[in-house]
Amino acid sequence: MLGADMEISIDKSTEVEYPVLPEIKNRRSKRAYAATPVREETIRSLFEAARWAPSSMNEQPWVYIYAVADNHEVWNKIFDSLNDSNKIWAQHAPLLVVSLARKTQLRNGVINGAAKYDVGAANALLSLQATHAGLNVHQMGGYSKQMLISNLNIPETHEPVVVMAIGYPGDPESLNDNLKVRELAPRERYTQDFFVHTKSF
Ligand SMILES: Cc1cc2nc3c(=O)[nH]c(=O)nc-3n(C[C@H](O)[C@H](O)[C@H](O)COP(=O)(O)O)c2cc1C
Repeated sequence: MLGADMEISIDKSTEVEYPVLPEIKNRRSKRAYAATPVREETIRSLFEAARWAPSSMNEQPWVYIYAVADNHEVWNKIFDSLNDSNKIWAQHAPLLVVSLARKTQLRNGVINGAAKYDVGAANALLSLQATHAGLNVHQMGGYSKQMLISNLNIPETHEPVVVMAIGYPGDPESLNDNLKVRELAPRERYTQDFFVHTKSF
């Protein structure tokens, strides 16, 4: 086991090592948002991308609740559940989306062990569709599950997964110094050597 005091050295890179789709290369979780609202038709194309995600036994266990900033009531109900560190920047997002997993299978009521995995896949497609449309999606696990459930009356049958702040990218200068540095830093990833193998463990 690696203790907190033990340094691990894993190669990282800020470059794409092999060719990928521009949407994959250009996606990033930004924090500065422009005030420009996101049109309903554009929002619907994000959910359409999610709709066509693969899922275990085609159960499609994803459920979304969204609020544009004009929908003050629902937007605030979602926003209020966010951690303070997310509220700082997410307050400017013109669109907030809650992704939920339906816990049981529609066909037989049995627990769906793949539900959250499938919601993640749907969110990934949604994020890439958003990037294609010039939008930024920033997923957040930093929220109070209890508050979100209470604010939105989420039933026992459903579990919140991530909240997403969505909007057109804004000016990094609008962020505080700390967030500005993170916004402008190159994205970094472990190199494939670390996680792709052709041998057993
Ligand atoms: C499940 C999940 C939870 C996350 N929670 C937060 C969060 O609460 N606050 C935040 O600022 N970013 C959050 N992120 C964004 C990650 O920090 C980000 O995806 C990661 O640093 C890689 O950066 P990139 O998306 O720009 O490539 C979350 C991402 C995921 C997938």
